[in-house]
Amino acid sequence: MSQPNVFITRRLPASLDPLKALASVEVWTKRQPPPYDVLLNKIQAIDGLLCLLTDPIDRSLIEAGNQLRVISQMAVGYDNIDIPAATEKRIPVGHTPDVLTDATADFAWALLMAAARRVVEADRFTRAHQWQTWEPDLLLGGNIAGATLGIVGLGRIGQAMARRAKGFDMRILYTNQERCDSALETALNAEFVAFDELLQASDFVTIHTPLTPETHHLFGDRQFQQMQRSAVLINTARGTIVDPEALYRALAQGQIAAAAIDVTEPEPIPADSPLLTLDNLIITPHIASASRQTREKMATMAIANLVAGLRGERLPHCVNP
Ligand code: DGY
Repeated sequence: MSQPNVFITRRLPASLDPLKALASVEVWTKRQPPPYDVLLNKIQAIDGLLCLLTDPIDRSLIEAGNQLRVISQMAVGYDNIDIPAATEKRIPVGHTPDVLTDATADFAWALLMAAARRVVEADRFTRAHQWQTWEPDLLLGGNIAGATLGIVGLGRIGQAMARRAKGFDMRILYTNQERCDSALETALNAEFVAFDELLQASDFVTIHTPLTPETHHLFGDRQFQQMQRSAVLINTARGTIVDPEALYRALAQGQIAAAAIDVTEPEPIPADSPLLTLDNLIITPHIASASRQTREKMATMAIANLVAGLRGERLPHCVNP
């Protein structure tokens, strides 16, 4: 029997040996993702696809995969993949949960602290030779210890944020699709509240919910108007959960004090985005999971999912219902 064919849409930070032992492997080695027409062409002759969140794996593409048996994504989020279309064709889709939880929460925490205490702005200020003396009111930020943190989505990463916040003696509020069990609430010291209440009561709001039709532009003008003028927004989930125009208005008009975002709509952020002109916004290029150890684990897990799919076994981390 001939070997299955596999296409990997970028170089991965892990060994491909387990895959090469059973498949013929092609890797897209350019820095930019393969264009859609390349994906469409490749998918017609492959048994397995290992993709990234930058690859739009839509219905047309999935339907063109005549011999496609498995899709494995190197990310925990999979909003770029049409899961119902894959499920209809009985194609399992794998993802990489758990291994990136702490790295992502660490980074969200770093953004929270940097925004609260204006670290990036202070660095720019110093490099611009504006530091002339010690001043009582120079670059004042807000307290983190004792403040209220609102967590939107108390899943794996939201819970890891709550654990960090507990160490800072913060009051922790959360919203979630479903209320978590009381043992977890007690362990995390987290109170379940309505979304509006969370917006009104929080000094920091951090987003950890997946992108779905329900969370698309969950943050718009109305939500920013409910937040405190001293509040800080952190987003390490998906850019499209926040309406970028509403975010610009909120920050430019002082409706909220600051924001720190690792994800944007669209990605990468366009060079002419007005968001780039704001001093009270920190923007990083979708790197919350980017520790060496974590990216290696994500790649290894994505390869393991792909191998299982090619062997006709249940994927260790499968997202299809
Ligand atoms: C994910 O895994 O979904 C992140 O956005 C990238 O690590």
